Amino acid sequence: MEEFEFLLEMNNISKEFPGVRALDNVTLKVRPGTVHALMGENGAGKSTLMKCLFGIYKQDSGEIILDQQKLEIHNSKDALNYGISMIHQELHPVPHRDVMENVWLGRFPMTGFGPFQFVDHKKMYADTTALFQQLEIDIDPNALVKTLSDS
Ligand SMILES: Nc1ncnc2c1ncn2[C@@H]1O[C@H](COP(=O)(O)OP(=O)(O)OP(=O)(O)O)[C@@H](O)[C@H]1O
Ligand SMILES: [Mg+2]
Repeated sequence: MEEFEFLLEMNNISKEFPGVRALDNVTLKVRPGTVHALMGENGAGKSTLMKCLFGIYKQDSGEIILDQQKLEIHNSKDALNYGISMIHQELHPVPHRDVMENVWLGRFPMTGFGPFQFVDHKKMYADTTALFQQLEIDIDPNALVKTLSDS
């Protein structure tokens, strides 16, 4: 594999909301294999920058380069396809669906092919159980989210 210095580059990103310049020429460069914390006061623009990366907002100007390729990220599905994932500051679980469906929302495992595709609940259950075991989470994957306590 070819070596390159930055895995991700967000160059000169600006984003305005009515009356607010949330991002003013922001540049963030991330080297492969590194972990970063983006820090700043409330309203500094951290979430806005991440939302531009995840396709929730489109920056007014600036470019996003991943693996040395300039990306047009139109929506969250695009972002996920590029291997970009986001855990949101405000969580919006779907209360009337079960725990595992909330975990895999938007990327349900499917079985079958062509027009005969079905959600693979067996795989979803197995994957969720494995994930919860790894994270030492003791919640029934089949429990409806609305039946869980807040804490
Ligand atoms: N959808 C929106 N519409 C209008 N203004 C917005 C919107 N989203 C963010 N802003 C404004 O943009 C600025 C940056 O907000 P942002 O949420 O990115 O900050 P943050 O660094 O994530 O703050 P916090 O630490 O509170 O999470 C703020 O002034 C905020 O009010
Ligand atoms: Mg935020």
